[in-house]
Amino acid sequence: MNKYNVLHPFSFMPNLQDKTEEDIKGLYTFLESGKGCWVNDDKGNKYFYATTAVPTVGLGNTRVVEAIHKQMERLSFASTCGQTHPYVQKLAEKLISVAGDHFSLCFYTMDGSGAIETAMKLARQHFIQKGLHKKSKFISFDGNYHGTMFASGSVTNMGIQESFGEGITGCYTAPFPNMLRPPLEGTEEEIMAYCLQQLEKLIAEISPDEIAAIIFEPIQAVNGIIPMSQSFLQQVASLAKKNNILLIADEVTTGLGRTGYWTASEYYGIKPDLLAISKGLTGGYFPMGATLISSEVESTLIREGGVFLHGSTQCGHPVGCVAALELISIIEEENLLDNAKHLGENILSTFKDRLKDCEHVGEVRGQGLMISIEFVTDRQSNNTIDFSLGERFSQELRRHGVLGNYFNGILLLYPPLNLSEGEATFLTNKVSQAINQIFGGINKYE
Ligand SMILES: Cc1ncc(COP(=O)(O)O)c(C=O)c1O
Repeated sequence: MNKYNVLHPFSFMPNLQDKTEEDIKGLYTFLESGKGCWVNDDKGNKYFYATTAVPTVGLGNTRVVEAIHKQMERLSFASTCGQTHPYVQKLAEKLISVAGDHFSLCFYTMDGSGAIETAMKLARQHFIQKGLHKKSKFISFDGNYHGTMFASGSVTNMGIQESFGEGITGCYTAPFPNMLRPPLEGTEEEIMAYCLQQLEKLIAEISPDEIAAIIFEPIQAVNGIIPMSQSFLQQVASLAKKNNILLIADEVTTGLGRTGYWTASEYYGIKPDLLAISKGLTGGYFPMGATLISSEVESTLIREGGVFLHGSTQCGHPVGCVAALELISIIEEENLLDNAKHLGENILSTFKDRLKDCEHVGEVRGQGLMISIEFVTDRQSNNTIDFSLGERFSQELRRHGVLGNYFNGILLLYPPLNLSEGEATFLTNKVSQAINQIFGGINKYE
């Protein structure tokens, strides 16, 4: 057997010198096929697939597969550098119609990190073209994840940038109002007031004349599905406006439809200047991202004669555009935003109710179909549970037929937006059973 040759993203890799693909199959879940909300591994096990926010209309959706197939035959590639094809404009119009008509341009990328890089460059260029060259710095929030390239990695505050040395300079971190692990003790109002004061102080210390943008995740995804409150985010938006600072909404996970709204910004009632999407844009049928640009930013960038020296060879790929258009039609025609709201509320309230007496559940939270359960050693200290206990829980969950995303003591669940009521019941029952098996403390529910 040959040596295993793949370096996986974000994985604790074993020493590969003496490992084969067979060895790796024993360590990782090895997926061979999938349809709808379900995937199958190489050993014939079937799992509910809730690992990632990517599959919004499930896997192997016939409509998307057929649309892609037709486009592959018609025009399998077209460059958008000095050329174009019909689907870039069609999709841009559609995205603006669902995300808000204060946007007037769409830039296509290959992934979520690329959409954030694009937004950060646009923010800087916006101010350079206005003659405000010093406005080049960025503020993001503690615990935010914005991607892995040099700029997006530099505003990511999860302790992962240190591996690569210095990132881009001029990136600052403001406290995030995480209510389970707050930056100070107090009521919810006091914690939010403190975070806002700290943000205001940071802006003053750096100087508003040097800040290009505040970048935020409306709901922190990788860090544990932790929503900001509506009033907090609205106050952040006013603070940005007051100080002539752009707002970059990172909706790589929350868009499109994941929260029961096309964008979380719609739910929060804010109008960011730049908005990045990726996972739910193409639902995993094609790797793609997009940055939506407000008409105000467009007016400095284009109408005043700017040039945008950024992009990649395969931006705006016709197959990706067609996949996204079909996906959006499915969400509209099958009322999947309502499904995400309705089943999301049911799943959340079921877990809240069932887990209320479980000493090892610190918090159950979420919005729409992004839901998390945070495990703790006990509810007084809220300390993160032991790594090995988490590993046992993760295995138990798999044994119960659910592939979630267990990370740092938190279970993240992202069911596809088109799951049925029966599948939602399967998910809540199996997750509850796995929790009861490992932690106990759940009242009878069946
Ligand atoms: C909020 C957020 N922003 C950006 C990214 C980076 O996206 P990608 O992994 O497609 O580069 C992610 C990925 O998990 C994310 O959750």
